[in-house]
Amino acid sequence: MPIIVKENLFTLNTKNTTYQFKVGDFGYLYHLYYGPRLFDEDMSYVIIPREQGFSGVCYDAKMIRNISMDLMPQEYPSTGVGDFRFSALGIINNDGSRLVDLRFYRYEILETKPKVKGMPCFRETNECLKVVLKDRYKDIYVELLYSIYPENDLITRSVIILNKTKENIILDKAMSVSFDMQANEEYELLSFYGAHVKERMLERQIIKHSAYEIGSNRGTSSHQQNPFVIIASKNANEDKGEAYIFSLVYSGSHLFHIERNIYDQIRIAIGISPEGFRYNVAPNEAFYTPEVAFSYSNAGFSSLTNNWHKAISKHLINPRFKDYYSPILINNWEATYMDFTEEKLLNLAKKAKSLGIEMLVMDDGWFKNRLSDISGLGDWEVNTDKFPNGLSSFVDKIHNLGMKFGLWFEPEMISEKSDLYEKHKEWVLMAPNREPMRSRYQLVLDLSNDAVIDYIYDKMAKIISETNLEYIKWDMNRSISDVFSNNLPIERQGEVLHRYVLGLYKLLERLTTDFPDLIIEGCSGGGGRFDLGMLYYEPQIWTSDNTDAYERLFIHYGTSFGYPIRTMGAHVSAAPNHQTGRVTPLKTRGIVASHGTFGYELDLLKLSKLEQQEIKNQIKEYVKHRKIIYNGNYYRLSSPYENDFYTSYQFQFGNSGLLYVCFTKIKVAAPQIFIRLKGLDKIGHYKIDNKVYSGLQLMQIGLPIKAPIIDYDSLCLEIKKVRK
Ligand code: GLA
Repeated sequence: MPIIVKENLFTLNTKNTTYQFKVGDFGYLYHLYYGPRLFDEDMSYVIIPREQGFSGVCYDAKMIRNISMDLMPQEYPSTGVGDFRFSALGIINNDGSRLVDLRFYRYEILETKPKVKGMPCFRETNECLKVVLKDRYKDIYVELLYSIYPENDLITRSVIILNKTKENIILDKAMSVSFDMQANEEYELLSFYGAHVKERMLERQIIKHSAYEIGSNRGTSSHQQNPFVIIASKNANEDKGEAYIFSLVYSGSHLFHIERNIYDQIRIAIGISPEGFRYNVAPNEAFYTPEVAFSYSNAGFSSLTNNWHKAISKHLINPRFKDYYSPILINNWEATYMDFTEEKLLNLAKKAKSLGIEMLVMDDGWFKNRLSDISGLGDWEVNTDKFPNGLSSFVDKIHNLGMKFGLWFEPEMISEKSDLYEKHKEWVLMAPNREPMRSRYQLVLDLSNDAVIDYIYDKMAKIISETNLEYIKWDMNRSISDVFSNNLPIERQGEVLHRYVLGLYKLLERLTTDFPDLIIEGCSGGGGRFDLGMLYYEPQIWTSDNTDAYERLFIHYGTSFGYPIRTMGAHVSAAPNHQTGRVTPLKTRGIVASHGTFGYELDLLKLSKLEQQEIKNQIKEYVKHRKIIYNGNYYRLSSPYENDFYTSYQFQFGNSGLLYVCFTKIKVAAPQIFIRLKGLDKIGHYKIDNKVYSGLQLMQIGLPIKAPIIDYDSLCLEIKKVRK
């Protein structure tokens, strides 16, 4: 049974994990356990009431003084009531007090999963629990929602704060999740930091007696700190040890607060960043937090990752894209930047078609006034100097070649040099009598305003229908500053960033409902908004503007901890690489770009006959392999952080697998490399490169690998099971 409620004890079971909490003394909700699946144990014994000097005990405990709230493992901690750790909820009551004392009120087992209003979330499941807490003094209700996906070892949580009082309340913090784990050994925090062209770099640190904040105050999930973390036992590696993953299904500012107290309890609180957040909740209104998804494995990172990838593919990504392969594309950005004509693109498309490419994506620069990044955003009308017969006529030509067509938009942005800015300055996020910050010369539209959403929708829908558009690259090229909406009253300005995200989702919801076959590729200066919120609407996201094959190994490595490989946009680009100047073999660029949706982003017309032939072969290989890449288990066999000679990874889908090895520079007198494979049947036999090995040999001793013959050499080997 996934949900068991016995008196005051709540047990949530997945196939391999159990999450447990209970209603304890005086109605407080105490977290008991999250870890390997229990049989039918009640973990209440872990609550050992004790006194901690200088912390609070609730008034109704009367003469009892050993229930210090500061030590109790909370399931959703109250504010201002003697627990001095990071609280989950900040409510400013209309008397000015910032206090809320949450006690258990009731629970309900739900037959279907309720929607997280206005936001994406993991899709239907029939295993849902609602636990309602209530402030001891006021009619403020906090509903904790739990959804369970037993087969995938996945649990999600979100919160609804319901104001049933007769007065307004203000939220200045509303975390989606908070709970306290007892850490009887050392735990480590893995987070994924970065920058533009350097996304999701893995950082691993011991959780000491301190507080850690992983987050973004940029209005987006950001390049700087991706909204997921892993908490792992100290020596956990790919094959052993405990690992918990937590990820926020949200695309705006966020905070992951992790703190360890003197008694080695680790508090994990995740939600919208409280920085600048102030949300008014009127009587009878409710506030919905975004959802947090989490999973646990006691068999190391590989097992955590494979469950997680499957959970996202099965329950978050639009089912429409379950069995699809993203079209192999040519994107003209690094081929032409904004300097192109219709003729040039048509020639590029023809060449692409002859090599086996399935789609042309026309990137930035196709619209009116867009000669450089100084102008043009917001109007979304074709540049008739570049396309004298209009956009549809050009798209028809691409379709007539038998190719699909995709178009770049940056819907959330506006250039000051645009007709839209002349007409609707009030639609821009900026405060009265202050000049706004520019970033890439552009300003941000106020997506908290429905009129803006309608305008963008109409502009995009017109082009999508007129051109029978198959694909959109949805870009967002700056962080949000000047957080002020002309459409909201003074007291609601603290709501702008969250309302912006809700507006974004509203727009995506409308477009994906009205144009269900449209594929949207997410992008934000590369991978600056790679999060589960966007993946709900967009089955793939451009992983990074850094297309250098060597640098990408690090970016792919970090991204793979949080997201399925099939969601990662990866392209072959030119050598020398435009970001780093590095020269890598075309073969290696193809191999690295196979770690994802696959495409090209270079001027195919400048390639030699030999290179063109190589591209043809790469495409054939990718098409042959993509079933395994999209659906297989994924194993990080070596880390680019730890191995400076090569990075290797494996996909295994039933009896078929793929081994990839990417080298750095040649090493003289290097020892023979043996790569140990994973996920094979020990007694089975596998053919690799025309030799047969047993699963045991391959997993125990490993496959001998030929030394590289040039710098940045690479190889991809098929693994085929030939007999039991
Ligand atoms: C961003 C994207 C690029 C490209 C440019 C166009 O930087 O990440 O891929 O689309 O914008 O301006």
